[in-house]
Amino acid sequence: MTASISDILLHWYDTHARDLPWRVPPGAALPDDPAWPYRVWLSEVMLQQTTVAAVKPYFAKFTATWPTVEALAAASDDDVMAAWAGLGYYSRARNLVKCAREVATRGGFPSVEAELRQLPGLGDYTAAAIAAIAFGRRAVVVDANVERVVARLFAIDTPLPGARKAIRAAADTITPDRRAGDFAQAMMDLGSHICTSKAPRCMLCPLREHCAGYAAGEPERLPVKPAKKTVPERRGTAFWITRTGGAEVWLVTRPATGMLGGMRALPDDGWSAQEDGSGEVLLPGDWRAMGAVRHGFTHAQLTLEVIGADVTSDPPGKGQWWPVSQIEDAGLATLFLKAARLALA
Ligand code: ADE
Repeated sequence: MTASISDILLHWYDTHARDLPWRVPPGAALPDDPAWPYRVWLSEVMLQQTTVAAVKPYFAKFTATWPTVEALAAASDDDVMAAWAGLGYYSRARNLVKCAREVATRGGFPSVEAELRQLPGLGDYTAAAIAAIAFGRRAVVVDANVERVVARLFAIDTPLPGARKAIRAAADTITPDRRAGDFAQAMMDLGSHICTSKAPRCMLCPLREHCAGYAAGEPERLPVKPAKKTVPERRGTAFWITRTGGAEVWLVTRPATGMLGGMRALPDDGWSAQEDGSGEVLLPGDWRAMGAVRHGFTHAQLTLEVIGADVTSDPPGKGQWWPVSQIEDAGLATLFLKAARLALA
């Protein structure tokens, strides 16, 4: 019966597909447009660990500013990093520019999964997704949504991440040769709207009769998650340094590698390298405490104290004075935008 799972799902997708700016309608031919693989690639990189709702405005901004991979390849790193600000996981933006330059040099995206996998920033999932969606090639596309659907469909109850091999093998058995991109996206849509992590809507699921997890009861128990790791707490200090009575603030660009690398930021005490915030304030001034912001990273939970001072000379090191009235447009990473908003509150 495995062949019919893809037929049922594709039939469901024909009427239930989400209309998204990086998609073609279900069943449509692949656009004969060199910008098509570019749009698929851009959307897939943006959608890594990020919701569709968060990605939409960024996708619109990027494709309006840089409509082709050649245009993005010609952009400056700083402009791309600033445009990415707020989307998080900034190594994606650094790899995005690298990848665009490599693709522009080679004259376009490769269509074969193994070659896509060699491009900067493309893991197994993204390479498979682009091969299927942009080029219509059969590929086993497994993201977290698909992982959940497959674990339930086949009642795979070994805990993650050990279950991944079996999930992938099971996904392979239901992946059709035709309509590769539609099938991949149908699985994603099913996972995000019907086969949700909590309280799956099995009564609406087109695959219910084929679902071993449903038949066994408690499909929401699958996939079995590993025990949650506790993330370490970090503390640090960010400096809100102003001049001209608070009209301008001193911003720096973080080093290209490491945490939030290449992003514009407030100066800080180097919390990213520290167990706790024991950094010293190097700049003499009349410092005042402005409060603290909290920010969750995958590897740490950070409390960032913000202290401010008005100064008359430039702080040491490289940086620039930025008009405080335009701070929202500075391309600050979310953590520092929160700190700036706090300082201005
Ligand atoms: N998540 C990752 N890729 C996606 C896509 N193409 N459509 C919807 N959600 C996704």
